[in-house]
Amino acid sequence: MHREVSIEEIKPYLSTPCIGKGTFGKVYKGTLDDGDVAIKVNYISKEGCLKVEEQVELMQKVQHAHIVDYIAHLILFPTYYLVLELMEGPSLEQLIHSRNESANNEIIHTHAYTTDEALQWLSHAAEGLAFLHGWMPSIIHRDVKPSNMLLDKNKKILKICDFGNMRQIGTNMTNESGTFRYMAPEVRLIDNR
Ligand SMILES: Nc1ncnc2c1ncn2[C@@H]1O[C@H](COP(=O)(O)OP(=O)(O)O)[C@@H](O)[C@H]1O
Ligand SMILES: [Mg+2]
Repeated sequence: MHREVSIEEIKPYLSTPCIGKGTFGKVYKGTLDDGDVAIKVNYISKEGCLKVEEQVELMQKVQHAHIVDYIAHLILFPTYYLVLELMEGPSLEQLIHSRNESANNEIIHTHAYTTDEALQWLSHAAEGLAFLHGWMPSIIHRDVKPSNMLLDKNKKILKICDFGNMRQIGTNMTNESGTFRYMAPEVRLIDNR
């Protein structure tokens, strides 16, 4: 569902504790008339505005069970607000790395999970990526990594998020994208040439 959003609707949530932090911005939980949402706040340059519009156009098209839904966006230069479907569970990054220590110094994973769950999430991530790659011309995410894989409240469904680097093959491709640790080897090789 796509809609218009005003700054009045989202402003109250921007002073609440953020639910996520990325490289470029923060993400807040909000509630609009039609339900809970995630509000991602980024700062963009003048040139960035054009890129954002292209990305929004793509995000509006790519609707899939394993891709986080775009709802609305608002640019009040230089701030870019992106309203998205809210994923209430942890990201795979939070799930893998969050741990507590018990009184006897044992490590306790706060989000324990089974092999079956992990296989299910892997299959969801693959389905989401295959959907993007099957688009004509193919869409590539370019920043596939655990912090960009989000789970629902019951940790049953995984959806891919973070479309900041997403491109359609053939349009203004550059190599300077992604996160080094998670880059495919062939992309690293190109970058090091
Ligand atoms: N739709 C969402 N629902 C819930 N949390 C989200 C959502 N989108 C992002 N987040 C949280 O915010 C973090 C950063 O968001 P992301 O879009 O990856 O930003 P960045 O481009 O800065 O990496 C994610 O790792 C996740 O923890
Ligand atoms: Mg991210």
